[in-house]
Amino acid sequence: MTSSSKGFALITGASAGIGAIYADRLAKRGFDLILVARNQTRLTALAERLTQETGRSIETVAADLSDKAALATIETLLREDPRITMLVNNAGVGSVASVLDGDIDSMESMINLNITALTRLTYAVAPAFVARGSGTIINISSVVGIAVELLNGVYSASKSYVLSFGHALQRDLAGKGVRVQTVLPAATATEFWDVAGYAKQKEAASTMTADDLVDAALVGLDQGELVTIPTLQDGDDWTKWEADRRALAPRFANATAASRYTSKNVATAR
Ligand SMILES: NC(=O)c1ccc[n+]([C@@H]2O[C@H](COP(=O)([O-])OP(=O)(O)OC[C@H]3O[C@@H](n4cnc5c(N)ncnc54)[C@H](OP(=O)(O)O)[C@@H]3O)[C@@H](O)[C@H]2O)c1
Repeated sequence: MTSSSKGFALITGASAGIGAIYADRLAKRGFDLILVARNQTRLTALAERLTQETGRSIETVAADLSDKAALATIETLLREDPRITMLVNNAGVGSVASVLDGDIDSMESMINLNITALTRLTYAVAPAFVARGSGTIINISSVVGIAVELLNGVYSASKSYVLSFGHALQRDLAGKGVRVQTVLPAATATEFWDVAGYAKQKEAASTMTADDLVDAALVGLDQGELVTIPTLQDGDDWTKWEADRRALAPRFANATAASRYTSKNVATAR
């Protein structure tokens, strides 16, 4: 018998990789699902398998989230469908190209997907969750949002954005009953690497499976973590980094420049 529903989780980028594993795990945790990606055939196959295995209600929407009109249909769904209790902003693409090799149009479409779509979907659902006093938003960032020199600069910066945005969401929404979790995967064996232009990363000894990544991320969610970095072995490393970052904030508020920027010091430097 199917257990009672925890509401609908809308997962972007659910046709493959990490998003497809979120679909599997959330269905098994009692969520009904709305699966979003471009590839309808894959979405349908996943929905049929999960319906059979879990008895959950699973809907699919084929949409290219880098396209404004298609994105708007998902925004409307998030604004207007009161069954939705969770948003997993997972769809994303990457690249390993340097600034000198990269094609600016594909960089722009990466920004549209990794930043604009994630932001617009969050803005669509947040007021609805606040009005209901509950809801969960999971945003998929990356460790390269911190280790920014590792991959393509636009990709890393897009993932730094997701991390920063998560902090702001936490500040604005936590007191209103909305949970926000930012997940920072390290290298994970998915088609991401084929699209990014470095397929052999999938075979590296340090690369995690998408199953392990999502299982760990959901444990982090259960533990109420705001930021989950499954591969970081010592959680204190993050706690310390985060404490140091926050401790800087009050030190920025000064009407005068630091003494190292006085004209006397500039003259010395010349
Ligand atoms: N794999 C890693 O090593 C790694 C590490 C850190 C962070 N991440 C992040 O994890 C997230 C998931 O990536 P993944 O590793 O699971 O990659 P993936 O296997 O390539 O899956 C990406 C998903 O996004 C969908 N997608 C791509 N472009 C889209 C678009 N324009 N509109 C709608 N959906 C789109 C794809 O489906 P369709 O092709 O059907 O649209 C697919 O379902 C991404 O945000 C990625 O940046 C991955």
